[in-house]
Amino acid sequence: MTKKIPIIFDTDPGIDDAAALTVLLSNKQFDVRLITTVAGNVSVDKTTANALKLTHFFNRRDVPVAQGAKKPLVKAFKDASNIHGVNGMPGYQFEATNQKPLSLNAVEAIRKTLTESTDKITIVAVGAFTNLAKLIQQYPESLEKIDRVVVMGGSIAGGNMTSVAEFNVYTDPDAAKILFDSGLDITMIGLNVTQKALLTNESMNVLSHMNETGNMLTQLFSFYGDGNLANGKPMHDVNTLFFLLAPNKYVLNDYWIDVVTDGPAIGATVADIQSFDHQSTNIHVATDVDSEAFNAWYLLEIAKITDTAVNAGKVEK
Ligand code: BDR
Ligand code: CA
Repeated sequence: MTKKIPIIFDTDPGIDDAAALTVLLSNKQFDVRLITTVAGNVSVDKTTANALKLTHFFNRRDVPVAQGAKKPLVKAFKDASNIHGVNGMPGYQFEATNQKPLSLNAVEAIRKTLTESTDKITIVAVGAFTNLAKLIQQYPESLEKIDRVVVMGGSIAGGNMTSVAEFNVYTDPDAAKILFDSGLDITMIGLNVTQKALLTNESMNVLSHMNETGNMLTQLFSFYGDGNLANGKPMHDVNTLFFLLAPNKYVLNDYWIDVVTDGPAIGATVADIQSFDHQSTNIHVATDVDSEAFNAWYLLEIAKITDTAVNAGKVEK
């Protein structure tokens, strides 16, 4: 059997975050050490509650959840409830759970998890990078335990907040700059690629008849304000996990990326594609994805999850 990938997953669920957490919590190839939450799609109280709904749904009491930053380092916080609904995961009534987050906050929990680990850990970050920036600033000695960082965020070709800024970086550009300048081994799967990894309407129809997990996801997707039924809906955050399991389905190029932290281009991730200003590179940047393979893989992942393995709730009428 292939070696499991030890992971800390930093997230702001969020509908596409939920689609990613579904794979994270059910695929045995991931050794999930910790989930941390951040303010982003909705407030951190809501993203934490949503993460706990999913650890309960997938019977993963063994996976601790730690609550993280309530707001970005500098910029004022503004959520994306216009895309993800007021509670961040609308449309499905999850079974109530008495599970609570850890008493440690996200930064302390990440540090503890890294420090106590005998092997190096992959960090996957699919929300604003506020928690990671704080870790880098407060506990630089813990970074040697990080194997690599895979992020959904940024874009080298157009944004979804402004013409140049993607939401996760736009939400906390100062944190993104600290992360991108940290010297860690970072792979950026940005909007330029995730907008190609659309879950098609056909795939969503298949999911809806598959099992309770497919039902749960399609209920959430029906409230997801990103993408459309004609072309499909972007599963931005899921790409980080597909990349870890099937890196050959992505094209990567190494670039120096600068993060813009003020002015009209705030939140832009500018790639020095001609090596004009930088002789070195700091980020492995995804530039393409096999979207057919993405759809086929996602359906297979969900098909593997039996109804007996989940704590199903009721569909909201
Ligand atoms: C990113 O922003 C959030 O709304 C999504 O969850 C994803 O992480 C896409 O720009
Ligand atoms: Ca997200």
